[in-house]
Amino acid sequence: MARIVQPAGQPAPTNAPNAPDAPASNDAAGQANFDAIIAKDSRVEPKDWMPEAYRRSLVRQISQHAHSEIIGMQPEANWITRAPSLKRKSILMAKVQDEAGHGLYLYSAAETLGTTRDDMMDALVAGKARYSSIFNYPTVTWADMGAIGWMVDGAAICNQVPLCRASYGPYGRAMVRVCKEESFHQRQGFEILLELAHGTPEQKAMAQDAVNRWYAPSLMMFGPPDDDSPNSKQSMAWNIKRFSNDELRSRFVGMLAEQVKVLGLTLPDSEIRFNEDTKKWEYGPLDWEEFKEVLAGRGPCNAQRLERRRSAHEDGAWVREAAAAYHDKQLAKQAAEQKAAA
Ligand code: 3HC
Repeated sequence: MARIVQPAGQPAPTNAPNAPDAPASNDAAGQANFDAIIAKDSRVEPKDWMPEAYRRSLVRQISQHAHSEIIGMQPEANWITRAPSLKRKSILMAKVQDEAGHGLYLYSAAETLGTTRDDMMDALVAGKARYSSIFNYPTVTWADMGAIGWMVDGAAICNQVPLCRASYGPYGRAMVRVCKEESFHQRQGFEILLELAHGTPEQKAMAQDAVNRWYAPSLMMFGPPDDDSPNSKQSMAWNIKRFSNDELRSRFVGMLAEQVKVLGLTLPDSEIRFNEDTKKWEYGPLDWEEFKEVLAGRGPCNAQRLERRRSAHEDGAWVREAAAAYHDKQLAKQAAEQKAAA
């Protein structure tokens, strides 16, 4: 495999808590300061001392999120050349580019925690990193672009708006921008479905079929049920997550249940109802065995998605090498100028 280098202009972070000049991790004053920040519901910044477990958990979540954005470009990129009009093609292209941008904000946020983009990318292409289950399902018709926008980006908004208040500053700030763009993504998806649903009977059937196929996988994006979610409790205590997986899933079902009426379509779940006592939306059982299979790498498109990412990474080796060579040249030029000036 090609040599992996730190791109020009992106030195390995030095102010992160695991950098050589960072305080020792058993720093009692640092812990007290961290506890006070969390108690005040304020923000932890890269230069602040933080517990190693907090740092690791953030890297785990943010890198998983970044990888999801990058892998998530594939199912939709698959339709750019087949979009039904120039307008649809430009919108879809802009959306896929936005996802790349989201990945970059998130990799940058993770880098402030002392990990490098190269390490995260190596883990992804080696098949050792997680990314969202949803992107392992195929996009078989144009209506899937509508269902992804409406449901997948809709679920992302529901999950990610609370993350704008995540206790780690760089993550929360990245999420603000991501969420603004996700709103546009969701609306364009809704509009695709609305147009299909009011088109010919074949178009309406295609829209309904896409909604039927993406419904359950989009609910699973919120993660396993609360009883089976090892990270939620601690993440919520650290103000990274604000709501549990089931709370957000229920909120999302409520959103879909109302909006599907405007589309004139139905959701493939006859058990959806609003429980007046708990004030929560309820829904029928989900196939958590399927979820586990997808997470274990045995979903419909896992192998294809990873292989595509690997080959894109290898194809991009020359760009990284050119950037590194340029960076080295700039450093040599600076050194020569400093020497001449001395
Ligand atoms: N797909 C893949 N893995 C998942 C998952 C999913 N849908 N849901 C949970 N998992 C993984 C977790 O990462 C965790 O694995 P790990 O311990 O090895 O990291 C394990 O399953 C147990 O789940 P938990 O509920 O304990 O994990 P979390 O507390 O981290 O909650 C989460 C999971 C809700 C996905 C949370 O990490 C989160 O909110 N992440 C940020 C948002 C995100 O990553 N979204 C991904 C979709 S990106 C996207 O939507 C792009 C847009 O353009 C559409």
